[in-house]
Amino acid sequence: MPSAVEQEIRGLIRQYGRITFARFMQICLYSPTGGFYFRRKDWIDSHFGTSPTTHPVFGALIARQLEQMWTLMGEPPVFHVIEVGSGDSVLAQSIVNTTRRNAPGLAEALRYVALDYQPGWAQAPDNIFDWPRPSGAWQPKGWAAATSGVRLVKGEGLRPVRNVQGCILSNELIDNFPVHRFAFQGGRIREVFVTLEGEELAEVLDEPSTPRIEERLAGLGLSLPEGYRGEVNLAMEDWVAQIATVLERGFIITIDYGDLAEGLYTLQNSGETLYSIGKHIVDAVPYESPGQRDITCQVDFISLMRLGERHGLDTVGYVQQRQFLDNLGISSYLAELESQEVSAARKELNRIAITSLVDPEDYGSIKVLAQSKGMAPNVGLMGFSGQKE
Ligand SMILES: C[S@@+](CC[C@H](N)C(=O)[O-])C[C@H]1O[C@@H](n2cnc3c(N)ncnc32)[C@H](O)[C@@H]1O
Repeated sequence: MPSAVEQEIRGLIRQYGRITFARFMQICLYSPTGGFYFRRKDWIDSHFGTSPTTHPVFGALIARQLEQMWTLMGEPPVFHVIEVGSGDSVLAQSIVNTTRRNAPGLAEALRYVALDYQPGWAQAPDNIFDWPRPSGAWQPKGWAAATSGVRLVKGEGLRPVRNVQGCILSNELIDNFPVHRFAFQGGRIREVFVTLEGEELAEVLDEPSTPRIEERLAGLGLSLPEGYRGEVNLAMEDWVAQIATVLERGFIITIDYGDLAEGLYTLQNSGETLYSIGKHIVDAVPYESPGQRDITCQVDFISLMRLGERHGLDTVGYVQQRQFLDNLGISSYLAELESQEVSAARKELNRIAITSLVDPEDYGSIKVLAQSKGMAPNVGLMGFSGQKE
């Protein structure tokens, strides 16, 4: 018996003949009939690990970066951190805990909102609200009572928030935005659609459903190799527009799998930049068990930077996660671990987890982008010093 998500996809294909891959991915991940991120049957880490679920040191180091941002902004009495796609809010909790321990000034100012589609969380108010600031009551009506110090809000993107002064943060969010897939064939762009062949989901190539796919690729000035298959993330356009609307002043930190366009759209990456994953098993073909597995696609960071610049966001820095965490002092945590009075086995487990955050074979090659709005040009952020990328 096909799952509700699969039935929804099949029904749409029967009705329209075929659907874009972006529509397919959107249903698989977010359909209220049982999309992967909508069902929330399991914790995310039962399917795959992420940096925050690997070790709380990740959040502790980001807290250091946030503290510097707060200082650069003149230590305002209210500092918002809006984390979108916060998943099980593991990162939120480690940032808030560290801030309370190590940065009492920031802890006082910190207003941390974790936003996600989590069905169990309180729905954000429908009407756009004005943020209570600078010292208004920090308990907008109708919001969920949060885990300590973090407001958990169910919502899409940044729609529930306004007037942000602080930092908009995401870890592995944009790689989950639905993407359009294409093939470069006969010297032109063809779009990959999802259809049915008999009872099987299958791909079919046709004219692109929107000129925006070709426009994006043309704007990148790439010379695509014949036969290349890849993706274009159009949803990031709306995302950047949302940021530009809600961020009054401050920073954006985006952490995700990906590369600059010229490193991403290469022959060697053809057909390799999107995959599905469930219960820690990775598959390059995303049509098995729709709704039961995650689908993720590498992010083109140059498009993110350019879109930001078009919307008045300055690009502050772009580095690999290993450099970012090195700059923020990951070695101090490794040194501290050595002096802790815990068993050798526990030390070793912690050491392995912390090291994996900077290991290029593991999380170390993930990219970190910083953008800003309303800050001095060339503002220097600790995490990005000595950047090479
Ligand atoms: C790969 S998980 C990452 C979770 C968490 N940030 C972590 O690193 O462990 C991606 C999360 O983004 C959420 N998400 C994706 N698109 C979203 C959107 N437009 N608005 C809010 N949440 C979104 C998903 O529901 C999911 O929880």
